Amino acid sequence: MSYKIVAAALAAVCAPLACHAADPAAVARGKYLVTIASCHDCHTPGYFLGKPDMARYLGGSDVGFELPGLGVFVGPNLTPDKETGLGNWTDAQVVAAIQIGARPDGRTLAPIMPYHAFANLTPQDAQAIVTFLRSLPPVSSKVPGPFGPTQTPTTFVMKLVPPGAK
Ligand code: HEC
Repeated sequence: MSYKIVAAALAAVCAPLACHAADPAAVARGKYLVTIASCHDCHTPGYFLGKPDMARYLGGSDVGFELPGLGVFVGPNLTPDKETGLGNWTDAQVVAAIQIGARPDGRTLAPIMPYHAFANLTPQDAQAIVTFLRSLPPVSSKVPGPFGPTQTPTTFVMKLVPPGAK
Protein backbone atom coordinates (compact mmCIF):
# COMPACT_ATOMS: atom_id res chain seq x y z
CA MET A 1 0.00 0.00 0.00
CA SER A 2 1.34 3.42 -0.83
CA TYR A 3 2.01 6.02 1.84
CA LYS A 4 -0.87 8.12 0.51
CA ILE A 5 -3.37 5.29 0.81
CA VAL A 6 -2.20 4.50 4.34
CA ALA A 7 -2.40 8.18 5.30
CA ALA A 8 -5.88 8.48 3.80
CA ALA A 9 -7.04 5.36 5.65
CA LEU A 10 -5.60 6.65 8.93
CA ALA A 11 -7.20 10.05 8.42
CA ALA A 12 -10.57 8.40 7.88
CA VAL A 13 -10.22 6.31 11.05
CA CYS A 14 -8.77 9.08 13.19
CA ALA A 15 -11.00 11.98 12.18
CA PRO A 16 -11.93 14.04 13.95
CA LEU A 17 -10.20 13.30 17.23
CA ALA A 18 -9.00 9.77 17.99
CA CYS A 19 -5.45 8.44 17.52
CA HIS A 20 -3.60 11.17 19.41
CA ALA A 21 -3.26 9.51 22.78
CA ALA A 22 -0.49 7.36 21.36
CA ASP A 23 2.13 10.14 21.42
CA PRO A 24 3.17 10.72 25.04
CA ALA A 25 5.86 13.25 24.07
CA ALA A 26 3.30 15.49 22.34
CA VAL A 27 0.89 15.14 25.28
CA ALA A 28 3.67 16.16 27.69
CA ARG A 29 4.72 19.10 25.53
CA GLY A 30 1.09 20.21 25.19
CA LYS A 31 0.56 19.96 28.94
CA TYR A 32 3.64 22.10 29.54
CA LEU A 33 2.45 24.75 27.06
CA VAL A 34 -1.11 24.78 28.41
CA THR A 35 0.29 25.23 31.92
CA ILE A 36 2.54 28.19 31.12
CA ALA A 37 0.02 29.81 28.75
CA SER A 38 -2.51 29.94 31.63
CA CYS A 39 -5.34 28.32 29.65
CA HIS A 40 -6.50 26.91 33.01
CA ASP A 41 -7.17 30.37 34.45
CA CYS A 42 -9.83 31.30 31.92
CA HIS A 43 -11.13 27.84 31.05
CA THR A 44 -11.48 26.03 34.43
CA PRO A 45 -14.49 26.73 36.67
CA GLY A 46 -13.76 28.26 40.06
CA TYR A 47 -10.34 29.62 39.13
CA PHE A 48 -11.34 33.29 39.39
CA LEU A 49 -13.31 32.54 42.54
CA GLY A 50 -10.14 31.27 44.23
CA LYS A 51 -11.18 27.60 44.14
CA PRO A 52 -10.39 25.95 40.82
CA ASP A 53 -12.46 22.80 40.35
CA MET A 54 -9.78 20.40 39.14
CA ALA A 55 -12.35 17.63 38.61
CA ARG A 56 -13.58 19.86 35.78
CA TYR A 57 -10.12 20.98 34.61
CA LEU A 58 -10.49 23.05 31.41
CA GLY A 59 -14.21 22.22 31.44
CA GLY A 60 -15.28 25.85 30.91
CA SER A 61 -15.20 28.87 33.21
CA ASP A 62 -17.95 30.31 35.37
CA VAL A 63 -16.75 33.90 35.04
CA GLY A 64 -17.16 36.01 31.91
CA PHE A 65 -15.06 38.92 30.68
CA GLU A 66 -16.92 42.08 29.76
CA LEU A 67 -15.43 43.91 26.81
CA PRO A 68 -16.99 47.37 26.54
CA GLY A 69 -19.28 47.58 23.52
CA LEU A 70 -18.73 43.92 22.60
CA GLY A 71 -20.40 41.96 25.37
CA VAL A 72 -19.50 39.27 27.91
CA PHE A 73 -17.48 36.17 26.96
CA VAL A 74 -16.91 33.05 29.07
CA GLY A 75 -13.93 30.74 28.45
CA PRO A 76 -15.54 27.61 26.92
CA ASN A 77 -15.09 23.92 27.61
CA LEU A 78 -11.83 22.69 26.01
CA THR A 79 -12.25 19.00 26.90
CA PRO A 80 -13.12 16.36 24.26
CA ASP A 81 -16.81 16.21 25.23
CA LYS A 82 -18.73 15.95 21.96
CA GLU A 83 -21.81 17.93 22.98
CA THR A 84 -20.31 20.76 25.01
CA GLY A 85 -16.56 20.68 24.34
CA LEU A 86 -14.20 20.34 21.38
CA GLY A 87 -14.98 16.67 20.67
CA ASN A 88 -16.51 17.32 17.26
CA TRP A 89 -13.93 19.89 16.15
CA THR A 90 -11.08 18.83 13.87
CA ASP A 91 -7.50 19.51 14.93
CA ALA A 92 -7.30 22.25 12.30
CA GLN A 93 -10.41 23.93 13.72
CA VAL A 94 -8.97 23.94 17.25
CA VAL A 95 -5.64 25.30 15.99
CA ALA A 96 -7.47 28.04 14.07
CA ALA A 97 -9.36 29.07 17.22
CA ILE A 98 -6.14 29.15 19.27
CA GLN A 99 -4.00 30.98 16.71
CA ILE A 100 -6.32 33.23 14.69
CA GLY A 101 -9.45 33.34 16.85
CA ALA A 102 -11.59 31.73 14.15
CA ARG A 103 -14.44 29.48 15.28
CA PRO A 104 -15.86 26.84 12.91
CA ASP A 105 -19.17 28.77 12.77
CA GLY A 106 -17.34 31.81 11.38
CA ARG A 107 -17.46 33.95 14.52
CA THR A 108 -14.19 35.61 15.56
CA LEU A 109 -13.37 35.09 19.22
CA ALA A 110 -13.29 38.07 21.56
CA PRO A 111 -9.68 39.23 21.89
CA ILE A 112 -9.59 38.50 25.64
CA MET A 113 -8.79 35.00 24.35
CA PRO A 114 -5.08 35.65 23.68
CA TYR A 115 -4.99 34.30 20.13
CA HIS A 116 -2.81 37.19 18.98
CA ALA A 117 -0.10 35.94 21.35
CA PHE A 118 -0.75 32.28 20.49
CA ALA A 119 -0.32 33.12 16.78
CA ASN A 120 3.40 32.87 17.58
CA LEU A 121 3.26 29.18 18.49
CA THR A 122 5.14 26.91 16.12
CA PRO A 123 2.87 24.49 14.20
CA GLN A 124 4.33 21.65 16.28
CA ASP A 125 3.52 23.38 19.56
CA ALA A 126 0.00 24.33 18.45
CA GLN A 127 -0.60 20.68 17.53
CA ALA A 128 0.88 19.51 20.86
CA ILE A 129 -1.66 21.69 22.69
CA VAL A 130 -4.47 20.07 20.70
CA THR A 131 -3.04 16.60 21.40
CA PHE A 132 -2.97 17.35 25.13
CA LEU A 133 -6.55 18.70 25.08
CA ARG A 134 -7.67 15.48 23.34
CA SER A 135 -6.11 13.44 26.17
CA LEU A 136 -8.26 15.09 28.87
CA PRO A 137 -11.25 13.35 30.41
CA PRO A 138 -14.38 14.81 28.78
CA VAL A 139 -16.36 17.18 30.99
CA SER A 140 -20.00 17.82 30.17
CA SER A 141 -20.50 21.54 30.67
CA LYS A 142 -21.74 24.18 28.27
CA VAL A 143 -20.73 27.71 29.21
CA PRO A 144 -23.39 30.40 28.83
CA GLY A 145 -23.14 33.21 26.31
CA PRO A 146 -21.69 34.94 24.52
CA PHE A 147 -23.84 37.82 25.72
CA GLY A 148 -24.28 40.88 23.52
CA PRO A 149 -23.73 44.36 24.97
CA THR A 150 -27.43 44.77 25.78
CA GLN A 151 -28.00 41.29 27.22
CA THR A 152 -27.92 40.38 30.92
CA PRO A 153 -25.19 37.81 31.64
CA THR A 154 -26.07 34.80 33.79
CA THR A 155 -22.50 34.36 35.11
CA PHE A 156 -20.08 36.29 37.26
CA VAL A 157 -18.49 39.05 35.19
CA MET A 158 -15.07 40.69 35.26
CA LYS A 159 -15.34 44.20 33.94
CA LEU A 160 -13.33 47.35 33.42
CA VAL A 161 -14.73 50.15 35.51
CA PRO A 162 -14.00 53.73 34.40
CA PRO A 163 -12.32 56.08 36.90
CA GLY A 164 -14.80 57.56 39.35
CA ALA A 165 -17.51 54.95 38.73
CA LYS A 166 -19.25 53.59 41.82
C1 HEC B 1 -7.33 35.55 29.48
C2 HEC B 1 -8.25 34.43 29.38
C3 HEC B 1 -7.93 33.30 28.44
C4 HEC B 1 -6.78 32.56 28.33
C5 HEC B 1 -5.47 32.74 29.11
C6 HEC B 1 -7.03 31.54 27.33
N1 HEC B 1 -8.31 31.66 26.85
FE1 HEC B 1 -9.16 30.52 25.40
N2 HEC B 1 -10.83 31.68 25.45
C7 HEC B 1 -11.07 32.67 26.39
C8 HEC B 1 -12.41 33.20 26.19
C9 HEC B 1 -13.09 34.27 27.04
C10 HEC B 1 -12.93 32.51 25.08
C11 HEC B 1 -14.32 32.73 24.46
C12 HEC B 1 -14.27 33.96 23.59
C13 HEC B 1 -15.52 34.16 22.76
O1 HEC B 1 -16.51 33.41 22.95
O2 HEC B 1 -15.53 35.05 21.90
C14 HEC B 1 -11.92 31.56 24.65
C15 HEC B 1 -12.07 30.69 23.57
C16 HEC B 1 -11.20 29.64 23.30
C17 HEC B 1 -11.42 28.63 22.29
C18 HEC B 1 -12.65 28.52 21.40
C19 HEC B 1 -13.60 27.53 22.02
C20 HEC B 1 -15.03 27.68 21.62
O3 HEC B 1 -15.85 26.78 21.98
O4 HEC B 1 -15.40 28.69 20.99
C21 HEC B 1 -10.37 27.76 22.35
C22 HEC B 1 -10.15 26.51 21.51
C23 HEC B 1 -9.48 28.25 23.37
N3 HEC B 1 -10.01 29.40 23.92
C24 HEC B 1 -8.31 27.62 23.76
C25 HEC B 1 -7.41 28.17 24.67
C26 HEC B 1 -6.11 27.58 24.95
C27 HEC B 1 -5.63 26.25 24.40
C28 HEC B 1 -5.48 28.41 25.82
C29 HEC B 1 -4.08 28.31 26.36
C30 HEC B 1 -3.04 28.02 25.36
C31 HEC B 1 -6.39 29.51 26.10
N4 HEC B 1 -7.54 29.32 25.37
C32 HEC B 1 -6.11 30.57 26.95
C33 HEC B 1 -10.21 33.12 27.35
C34 HEC B 1 -8.90 32.71 27.51
